[in-house]
Amino acid sequence: MQSSKIERSGLQIDVFPTREEASAAAADEVEALLRKKDSVNLGLATGSTPLPFYRELVRRHREEGLSFAQMEGFNLDEYEGLPSEHPESYDSFMQQQLYAHIDARESHLLPGIYQNAEEACRAYEEKIVEKGGLDWQLLGIGGNGHIGFNEPGSPVDSRTRRIELDERTRRDAVKQFGTLEKVPLAALTMGIGTILEAKRIVLMAWGAGKAGILQKALQGPVTAEVPASFLQTHGNVRILIDEEASQG
Ligand code: F6R
Repeated sequence: MQSSKIERSGLQIDVFPTREEASAAAADEVEALLRKKDSVNLGLATGSTPLPFYRELVRRHREEGLSFAQMEGFNLDEYEGLPSEHPESYDSFMQQQLYAHIDARESHLLPGIYQNAEEACRAYEEKIVEKGGLDWQLLGIGGNGHIGFNEPGSPVDSRTRRIELDERTRRDAVKQFGTLEKVPLAALTMGIGTILEAKRIVLMAWGAGKAGILQKALQGPVTAEVPASFLQTHGNVRILIDEEASQG
């Protein structure tokens, strides 16, 4: 497998010819953790970016017998108002793409339906701490630089909370929901501070459409206006991208 490395502000950036090869590199990290530790807490993302990564994990489970029995997953976010069985909920996504096909110990997701957002978010943070923190966090990046649903303006020390979705984020979701009216107005998301507490962070991005925002996030100033730029401050972040995404 061929990849080229670029070192930038403490970030390791690996450029692969294809997203499948980059996803296999991410799967290698997860496999190494599973083989080394009795308990592995993975922070997980949804969206189109991680699809080849989840396919690769499922393939390793089926074809190579890789066990996920000591893995617990914690998802980054969930749309407000969607019951877990809604086809566009991130709960459904995770079931379809990953959990229905592997032997994970437990999956944790923020709720789409709740009485009290603050309580639901606090409980999620407490659960992460109780389980010993996140060993490894997977991220995609939104067109506006969001990570999780931490939209521009999200502070570096933000915790898991309710957030109103940006117009841009909602427009990007029309391809899943069909019309803008059907896209939820808000979500619950892990905060930037929550994400930055993960021991290791792997951000993946594919295609020319992500090149510009990646360049801002990785080379530009560290600012709440580009939430992914806070990754420059973490110290154990790996960026896995394909060649098109590297042309920013
Ligand atoms: C998803 C998430 C988002 C996405 C981002 C990119 O759980 O937290 O930050 O990673 O919006 O989405 P895709 O991968 O669909 O381009």
